[in-house]
Amino acid sequence: MKVLITGALGMLGQQLAKVYKDQDPILWDREVIDITDKDKVLTQISKIKPDIVLNTAAYNDVDGAENNEALAMEINGHAIGHLAKAVSTAGGILVHYSTDYVFKGDSVEGYKEDGQPDPQSAYARSKYLGEQELVDNIQNYYLIRLSRLFGRPAKSKSGKKSFVEIILDLANNQDEVNVIDEEVSSPTYSVDLALATKAIIDQKKSFGIYHISNNGSCTWFEFAKEIFSNYNIKVKLNPVPADFFSRPALRPKYSVLLNNKTEPLRSWQYALKDYMSVKNHEI
Ligand SMILES: NC(=O)c1ccc[n+]([C@@H]2O[C@H](COP(=O)([O-])OP(=O)(O)OC[C@H]3O[C@@H](n4cnc5c(N)ncnc54)[C@H](OP(=O)(O)O)[C@@H]3O)[C@@H](O)[C@H]2O)c1
Repeated sequence: MKVLITGALGMLGQQLAKVYKDQDPILWDREVIDITDKDKVLTQISKIKPDIVLNTAAYNDVDGAENNEALAMEINGHAIGHLAKAVSTAGGILVHYSTDYVFKGDSVEGYKEDGQPDPQSAYARSKYLGEQELVDNIQNYYLIRLSRLFGRPAKSKSGKKSFVEIILDLANNQDEVNVIDEEVSSPTYSVDLALATKAIIDQKKSFGIYHISNNGSCTWFEFAKEIFSNYNIKVKLNPVPADFFSRPALRPKYSVLLNNKTEPLRSWQYALKDYMSVKNHEI
């Protein structure tokens, strides 16, 4: 079975590469192939004929996208259409990842897989465009939405820094740390997500949309509090409202992804503990 992973040096891409190591996956990052290069993508995929393509390449700068919407649309939106056409013609399966941010965030109980997206920022619009390009151009797809990814940091230049690393940096450099005590969602551990992705494929689940995140939910402050407690950090942590920081992009207030199709993952607190013990071990 031929497996191709894009964004292979990113946070999730690296983990998928580990999970699929027995298949000796083909690893693409921007240096190898820019996914916005339509001709190269079509030529290479028709040559390789992969059975499974796992696309984790993305423009993930939520605030940056407000001033770079065209670029975000290109990478997160149109490129997915090219990939989907190429993989469909080659007869493979395309796994693509999206975000809780495609939803407006005014739900009180969270969003089911068939919930109606209503993106509120440039980043969210670009990711929603990618979802539409996927659905319109290939039948054999898994669209997996996730939220608040954490895990071993990306090795690539612009890979997204996770909230865990951001908070640890702040705690190392400041006497007090202010964190927004709003915007409820579920952290997702890259290891658990990569394993859940493989399980969906191995079990030949029906094609369509999946919501995968660790169990439970929290505000950013509650997430930070758990990180502080795991590390026994004594720096003062202050809860602040969402408008305390000026951030260009609007975020959903409540965007918990409800999973009605697969086994629930362990709690985010358990997953975080696991990640932190691995991290300590590596240090
Ligand atoms: N991180 C989160 O909190 C989060 C939340 C919800 C959904 N997601 C989604 O989950 C997926 C995985 O996210 P992640 O955090 O693992 O991403 P990441 O660490 O930021 O990695 C993304 C990778 O994509 C590469 N890339 C960017 N533009 C590219 C292009 N034009 N051609 C080829 N490669 C390109 C980047 O390479 P360079 O660094 O060299 O540009 C980087 O290695 C993405 O679809 C993301 O939108 C993430």
